[in-house]
Amino acid sequence: MKINTAEFIVSNSDASLCPKEMLPEYAFIGRSNVGKSSLINMITNHKKLAKTSARPGKTQLINHFKINSNWFLVDLPGYGFAKVSKSTKATFQKFITEYFEKREQLTCAFILIDIRLEAQKIDLEFINYLGTIEVPFCIIFTKADKIGKTKIDAAVAAYRKALLANNWEEMPQHFVTSSETALGKDELLQFIDDVNHE
Ligand code: GTP
Ligand code: MG
Repeated sequence: MKINTAEFIVSNSDASLCPKEMLPEYAFIGRSNVGKSSLINMITNHKKLAKTSARPGKTQLINHFKINSNWFLVDLPGYGFAKVSKSTKATFQKFITEYFEKREQLTCAFILIDIRLEAQKIDLEFINYLGTIEVPFCIIFTKADKIGKTKIDAAVAAYRKALLANNWEEMPQHFVTSSETALGKDELLQFIDDVNHE
């Protein structure tokens, strides 16, 4: 699929104020700094569509981007960022939870995982949470440019093992990506295109 247009629509801290249009939407979620906003920029060919930063905690709201006028990409704040205050954390949690539990348009969640790290408890918990509320999801490994090509398969296999140990029967659909080299871009866009046409 070719991205012809990608436009920022709205930022919200209230899930009920998100766009009302019934268009399919794909949300990016994961730990702070894992590369959610960078990946949105990479797949849409825009350097600055979503705001990125080397410092964790950059994205603080639910951001809707309309793609090709007929579907949405959604950039969300990261979880697991220790430096935000307890009350900020609670507010984040509330609107993120509301988004995942109430957003009818949510077609698929992409959970981003830094390919360099061993499976983190907070991610496994979030994956289990999405399972509990029955939100379809895929896993996206990020920052693959930071490890040697030969290590990619081993990292994915290790993650699969962690999921199986965590009561999942199989590794969900997954993608290996790099926002630096555009690795995984075509596969991810093909997946979205296929789901949009289901
Ligand atoms: P929050 O909004 O804070 O939750 O972070 P985020 O998940 O949106 O991460 P963001 O896209 O802002 O990227 C965080 C940092 O990682 C930035 O310095 C990016 O340049 C860097 N980064 C993101 N993706 C990649 C990647 O694929 N490869 C490399 N080498 N760096 C990346
Ligand atoms: Mg971000």
